[in-house]
Amino acid sequence: MAKSLFVLCLVFVLATPSRAADPLVELGEQLFESETFDGNGRTCATCHVAAESFGVSPPGIAMLFAIDPLDPLFIAENDPALATLENPCLMRQGNQRALFLENIDGFASPPVFRASPHLLNIAHTAPYGQSGGVANLRDFSDAAIEQHFTQTMARSMGRDFRLPRLPELYALEAFMNSITFPTDGNFSLDRMIAYAVSQGADAAAIDRGRTLFFGDLAQCSRCHSGPVLATADGSLGTGTGNLAFDTGVVNLGANNNDGCFGGPGDPTIPLPAEAGGNREFSTPPLLGVANTAPFFHDHSAETLFDAVSFYASVTFLISPAGLSLPSPSAFSIADTFDIVAFLEAISVDPPPEPLVVPGLSPWSVRLLAALLLATPPVASVLRGRRRGKRSASGRGEAE
Ligand code: HEC
Ligand code: HEC
Repeated sequence: MAKSLFVLCLVFVLATPSRAADPLVELGEQLFESETFDGNGRTCATCHVAAESFGVSPPGIAMLFAIDPLDPLFIAENDPALATLENPCLMRQGNQRALFLENIDGFASPPVFRASPHLLNIAHTAPYGQSGGVANLRDFSDAAIEQHFTQTMARSMGRDFRLPRLPELYALEAFMNSITFPTDGNFSLDRMIAYAVSQGADAAAIDRGRTLFFGDLAQCSRCHSGPVLATADGSLGTGTGNLAFDTGVVNLGANNNDGCFGGPGDPTIPLPAEAGGNREFSTPPLLGVANTAPFFHDHSAETLFDAVSFYASVTFLISPAGLSLPSPSAFSIADTFDIVAFLEAISVDPPPEPLVVPGLSPWSVRLLAALLLATPPVASVLRGRRRGKRSASGRGEAE
């Protein structure tokens, strides 16, 4: 009996979804949250905030500034040696776009300005970066450090920052790959919708929105299909996978005036259009999307309604991606509300499914597990695990 209860307890511990259950993931989380890589004080979490789905929004930046204007996020405003690391007007002043300076085309070329995207379900969206140019998350982490962590604009490796050691890169990658929405990693749309409806969402509107999303008028799923709605379904003849498109977002009204006076962000000059306005951007995943406003790579759509109605606009219809559709996308304002209802429903995080043990109610399983966790053999197994974790991170720091 004791043995079978022990097994039952282990099953419970292992079956409980937890981002930090794996020591590599836990180390990666520590690095992501607190490691500065001998740089200017920023960490990955400076711009990828857990409470904001691992992105950062304009209100989020305003709050961080109110709490501490000396936060390393604002280092370009506080350290004259890094005055050109960011454009503070595009980051938090002007029209409060929360855009960061990125040297996507190399440090010798003019920079571009992009939102810090959420990292939900990133495991399913390679290649990485909003123009999809980076093959894996280890290379992306190296590039992010060289871009954002440097102490001077010389970006001298070893002096201005250090790159992660290989185990640190794998840990960062493991942590990022553990960031899922819903939290338990079960991507069933039916389950998410059923839960949203149980919480009061409008089932009929969601159903209409879902049909439109996957149908021939709105045609969203041509680009947004697959488990996390980030992969092309192949119907455009451009292949499947997480593809990049030029949907014409750069031509949205919000980009005609960046709200910044003087310097590179003068309002008489629009936000610089990347690659002459012809850049293709990577298709983002949509599970959890309603929690990540504003939208698009340059935060040019404030609300989900704005982002969805964009696909019925002339700006999209005459873009290279719009013109590549078999027929022009067409849907009404009422349809837009329904598609938004669908996207909102798949942005509600259902509670993890309780462990089902035949013959026992979920509560008795939990109670048994709680009692058993206190028993010596189980407690020692768990203590052993924690010791293992501590020494793993300790080794990292000592190297
Ligand atoms: C100063 C802000 C800032 C910091 C610090 C920062 N990032 Fe980012 N991150 C961004 C921006 C802006 C982008 C968008 C870049 C692009 O469009 O390619 C981005 C994009 C990403 C992406 C690509 C997401 C996707 O959808 O493909 C990953 C992964 C990522 N960052 C990881 C990291 C890691 C790991 C660190 C720490 C080593 C880090 N970032 C530090 C601002 C930041
Ligand atoms: C031709 C491919 C394509 C089609 C069709 C398409 N999308 Fe997209 N979608 C994209 C790309 C590419 C982006 C990123 C654009 C950018 O950031 O510049 C995107 C971005 C989005 C975003 C913003 C997500 C974020 O995190 O900022 C939403 C919401 C969205 N699409 C919903 C839809 C809906 C709803 C439809 C159907 C009405 C649709 N898409 C049709 C390719 C497409």
